[in-house]
Amino acid sequence: MKLILLGAPGAGKGTVAKMLTAIDGSVQISTGDILRAAVKEGTELGKQAEAYMKAGDLVPDELIMGIMEQRLQEPDCANGFLLDGFPRTIPQAEQLKALMDKLGIKLDMAVNLEVPREVILDRLTTRRTCTGCGAIYNVKSAPPKVEGVCDKCGGSVVQRDDETEEAISNRLDVYNEKTAPLVEFYRNEGLLLDVNATSSDEVVKTIKARLAG
Ligand code: AP5
Repeated sequence: MKLILLGAPGAGKGTVAKMLTAIDGSVQISTGDILRAAVKEGTELGKQAEAYMKAGDLVPDELIMGIMEQRLQEPDCANGFLLDGFPRTIPQAEQLKALMDKLGIKLDMAVNLEVPREVILDRLTTRRTCTGCGAIYNVKSAPPKVEGVCDKCGGSVVQRDDETEEAISNRLDVYNEKTAPLVEFYRNEGLLLDVNATSSDEVVKTIKARLAG
């Protein structure tokens, strides 16, 4: 499958992407994960992205497009990909469209994960992430078996740097201003699937049903 996952911070894009990769080996491509890894490794990209991320602002489009143009041409993408957190602005969506045309790739759909704001706020303050493998936990709905330790790789399970109240509030504002317009963009492209994302299992079922035609 070749999907875009749209949705506010905390809508469950990463959670659903990980469930979908298990179905057919499509690869999850999370620009947030790529950027966090770059920050951790202290690369040039990481140095440029760090301050934007910490404040909950978007990283400039040129940096993101540079990463994605390369990433989408790597061999593992041939089996399909789940774009998690990309595109996030109209210019990114337009450039992705041009890139897909150039590479001769057809997207199946853009899935809009809809979750009420109060649920999102609750999810973001209770999310924990593994610094080793990126596994996502939630202290209320899906905690690791041993507090602070990843079930999958034994890495540390921590709260992300952009999970302060101030950064969360800014991320939601930035989403409404810059990313929410992508819903109309993909509706006009005939690719949009709106789904109620309070249950990730239901989201996966709906996507599978739509792909099956
Ligand atoms: P990114 O990492 O993409 O963050 P985000 O979009 O804010 O999304 P999140 O990872 O916060 O949420 P999610 O929707 O994946 O939810 P999750 O599955 O984890 O980006 C971080 C930063 O990088 C940006 O702020 C920006 O600076 C930069 N960046 C990234 N991409 C960029 C781009 N394209 N352009 C410019 N800048 C970019 O779930 C959340 C929690 O809820 C978890 O605890 C989970 O366990 C729980 N949960 C999920 N589903 C359910 C459910 N059904 N029921 C109960 N709990 C659930």
